[in-house]
Amino acid sequence: MKERLMLGIETSCDETSAAVVADGQSVRSLVTYSQIAIHQAFGGVVPEVASRQHVAVITRTVEQALTEANVQLSQLDGIAVTCGPGLLGALLVGLSAAKGYALVSGLPFFPVHHIAGHVAAAGLEAQWRPPMLCLVVSGGHTELLVVDENFRFQRLGGTVDDAAGEAYDKVARLCGLNYPGGPEIDKLAAQGNPDALDLPRSFLDSEELSFSFSGLKSAVANRLEKARRNHEYLPVEDICASFQQAVLDVLVTKTSQAAKKTGLRRIVVAGGVAANRGLRQAMTQLACRADLEIFFPNPVYCTDNGAMIAAAGSHMMKAGRHGTLDVNAYANLSF
Ligand code: KG4
Ligand code: ZN
Repeated sequence: MKERLMLGIETSCDETSAAVVADGQSVRSLVTYSQIAIHQAFGGVVPEVASRQHVAVITRTVEQALTEANVQLSQLDGIAVTCGPGLLGALLVGLSAAKGYALVSGLPFFPVHHIAGHVAAAGLEAQWRPPMLCLVVSGGHTELLVVDENFRFQRLGGTVDDAAGEAYDKVARLCGLNYPGGPEIDKLAAQGNPDALDLPRSFLDSEELSFSFSGLKSAVANRLEKARRNHEYLPVEDICASFQQAVLDVLVTKTSQAAKKTGLRRIVVAGGVAANRGLRQAMTQLACRADLEIFFPNPVYCTDNGAMIAAAGSHMMKAGRHGTLDVNAYANLSF
């Protein structure tokens, strides 16, 4: 059967990214202009700066993705784009560009939920085997979901306050580390003592599939303040290791509870935080203990990228779920 080529465009936060993916699986090109260096000076993403930067590079990014895949717009089978959730101004840039390309080409159009994109990243250069339980952990989200054969999602639970990645970024900032904090903490945690600080683990003893990370961040802040007042030296490696252990304990326990509740044995761990080496190790150990199969996207597809959006668009196309050009961008978007 002829392969089906999907263009994917992602601009929900601080990466302008476009990709061409064949059959939801094979990445033909992926071009990403990261704004991280620009936002680093502010210690986090500045929405207005992000929107303007997307405008400056969006056309170039899409054209480069088509050139690198060696295809013309007319040779594609569809166009997929993130329509939410995310920063509204940033989303509108990608969405408007995608609508323009769809309008001139007449190609089918697929508006993608950003979290669905993160989940679809697990099928890139790998087997896509729904139904699966999904843990999506990123800078904006911490969600437990089920994805079915028609690429439909059911939400089981999520964070009641900060997302896991947000907690990583805030704790990194408290420690004087660079934005984004996840990769920095990941590196330092490997050299520290995870039992050095006594930190809270929310909802650990409850069956509720909820997460809360803002108390953990405050506990780290209070502990650092106490150490400062008492002239106590706390190695940054120990802070990172203790914080990371608290996050991992909660993520692993809740995923295990959700697997028991749903009876699902195949689990996708996706989103920016899924690049975390400690999390990948802890989830792999859970898989061995509980006889589960764990799927991680390749780390290059964990953080925001156009390939995951193209893959999600392909799954929607297969399920016959085409969108229309009157779709809007949504800062908040449920499933
Ligand atoms: O999925 P993503 O690129 O953007 C959102 O949709 O939010 O995730 C970005 C988040 C940031 O909070 C970043 O600190 C975190 O993912 N992150 C990590 C790692 N790499 C990125 N967190 C922990 N460990 C990592 N290795
Ligand atoms: Zn994301």
